[in-house]
Parts: sequence; C-alpha cells; structure tokens
Amino acid sequence: MNAGEGAHSYVRNSSYQSGVVDVAKPIIEEEIATKLDINTLQNRFCIADFGCSTGYNSFPAIEIITQAINKKYKSPENTSKTLEFYVFFNDVITNDFNTLFTSLPPHINYHAAAVPGHFHGRLLPEYSLHFAYSSWSLQWLSALPEAVADVGSPAWNKGEILYTRDRKLVCDAYLDQFEKDIGLFLESRTVEMVSGGLMVLLVPAVPDFWNPESEYTVTWDISYLLGSCLVDMAKKGRFSEAKVDSFNLPYYFPTPEQLKAILSKNQSFTIERFEIRDNPGKHTLASVNARAAFLRAVNERLVTDHFGSEIIDELFELYMEKLEASPVFLNPDNDKTIVILVVLKRKLI
Ligand SMILES: C[S@@+](CC[C@H](N)C(=O)[O-])C[C@H]1O[C@@H](n2cnc3c(N)ncnc32)[C@H](O)[C@@H]1O
Repeated sequence: MNAGEGAHSYVRNSSYQSGVVDVAKPIIEEEIATKLDINTLQNRFCIADFGCSTGYNSFPAIEIITQAINKKYKSPENTSKTLEFYVFFNDVITNDFNTLFTSLPPHINYHAAAVPGHFHGRLLPEYSLHFAYSSWSLQWLSALPEAVADVGSPAWNKGEILYTRDRKLVCDAYLDQFEKDIGLFLESRTVEMVSGGLMVLLVPAVPDFWNPESEYTVTWDISYLLGSCLVDMAKKGRFSEAKVDSFNLPYYFPTPEQLKAILSKNQSFTIERFEIRDNPGKHTLASVNARAAFLRAVNERLVTDHFGSEIIDELFELYMEKLEASPVFLNPDNDKTIVILVVLKRKLI
C-alpha cells in the first residue's frame, strides 16, 4: 500500500475498503456479547489486526471491538475486574508503520504494538490471542502461483495481469494458492489463539465469477482496464510485451462457495457466521480520479517494482481515459464486488 498521507497514499484512498466496518459493527457486537467466553479471562485481552496497513481503517474496527468487550466485561456480574487491552497491528515489514503510530487516535484505551511479518506464518506467542481481525487482506496471496508465470505451462497467463474467466487453468492455479494460503493463515492462528477466541474476517469476494452476464467486479476492473493499459503501452514500445507477460498480481477474490469450502476443511475453528454483503465502499468512488487513485494506492508498488517508477503517471492517465470511455465500468452500481463476513471460534483445546 502507498505510504504516508499524501495524494497517492492508501490513507487518502481507501474509502472503497472502509465502508465494510460499519456493516460489520452490529455483527461484531452481537458475536462478542453472545459467544465470547470471558469467564476464563485474566485481566489481559489481546487483539490483532492482520493486514492493518497504515491504520486508517483499522482504528475504527479496534474501537468497535474494545467497546463491545468492555460493555460485556463491565456488565453487572463482572464489575470487579478491569481489562487491559493489547492491540497488535500486523502487516508486511515494508508497511509504513510510522504513519500508523503517528495517526493513532488520542486517548486510546489499549497498548499498541507493531507485529511486522507475513500473516501466513506464526507471529504471536502460543495461546495468547483472544480476538483476531482481518479486513480486505486475505485476498493477498503469499506468492504468485508458479504456473501462471511459466512460459512452458498450460496455465501461463500471457498478456493478462490477473486471472480472467476465459482462462480456467489460470483461475485454478490462483484458487489453489488461495486455498493453501488460507490454510496456512488458519494453522498459524490455531496455535496463537486461546480456546474460545473469536476471529472476524472481512473478505472481498465475487458473487458469480463464471457468469458472463454478471457485470464487473473489482477484479475485472483491474484485469480488463489496468491490464489492457499495460498491453497498450507495450505496443507503443514503452516496454516489451514479455515484460507484461511476466507480470501478474498476487491476489484472489473467492466466490462465497469457494471460501466456505476452504474454511470448512479446518478442524480447529467452528464457523459461527458466514454472511454476504454488498460492498458499501463502492459508492465512495464516484469520479474517474477517485477510482484511479484507489487502484494506484494499492498497486503502485507492485507495478513500479516490475516496470519502474517512470511509467506510473502515464499508466494511470491511460487508465482514466479508458474508464471515462467505459459506461459500464464507470457506474458504481455495476460493481458486483461483495464482502464476506466470517466469524470463526477457536475450538476448545
Ligand atoms: C487492501 S489493504 C487492507 C488494509 C486494511 N485492513 C483496510 O481494511 O483498509 C491489504 C493489506 O494487507 C497487507 N498484507 C498483504 N499480504 C500480507 C501478509 N502476507 N502478511 C501481512 N500483511 C499482508 C498489505 O500489505 C496491505 O496493507
């Protein structure tokens, strides 16, 4: 994600991802009130946000969680104890944690710590975590599926930058990697979470990827519009076509059925809730500029690492031209991207 708080930063361009916190609020409150087993608690309560970025969307979520826990904990039958909250903000080591810590809201009621590293592996001590949260992050893969960048493979993704509906083998390779990654994420949390601990996952998804009648989702925006800009620039000689052929984005947006099937395989958590919501954030990107800034804030680093920083302004100017000329993509109501709200509970150990 783009660092800092400038015009191209994630902080200033993440409204697409932020709306879901409000949708999740009543669910988080209800699950904490009814399912969190606080009787076994000591005074320490640990929360982690996996893939927090620079914090802007994380802080409201943490506030909802701590308030709901306090409300339950300070109920008449529990007046004797005070809880001390520890919040672990996790993201990759290149994340701009400085912006996160300088933007922490004043008077927070928790101790904050950074936990840099990949959430597909272990990050926290055994049986220490009471509440895990992750929003708009699990679509990121730990690595690109090898086959899609392998010229000799039938799943080689020539000329595209993400899976597309008409390349089944590429889709399968991405889904395979996504399934492995969710498995690793849950295995790591299995060791870190206490018995009865709750996990809330907000996962961006697509309703019906294979239906050609479906209108667009954020994945198609990226693959058809952004991808075609890169192909056009290669044709103009700005870089080689082989450069585009070897570039693929490392994320996967599952269908609800795919995600449910993957989660159901895990033996350590029960699925307490699995709910599908329209993404409310899409209406926050009403202008061509806002849509381009949103995609740029998320993808700039990946693009510049591969193509160099000198192409980035031209790429997004071209993207804006293509968007302007595409009535279907321009209308936020046509964006069928959904968010799946999952609540998992760590089984008793
Ligand atoms: C789209 S942002 C979402 C940020 C924030 N949760 C929100 O809702 O706005 C995805 C975040 O996940 C982080 N991320 C991706 N893969 C990760 C991994 N393997 N381990 C930790 N963080 C990861 C990215 O660096 C990025 O900050």
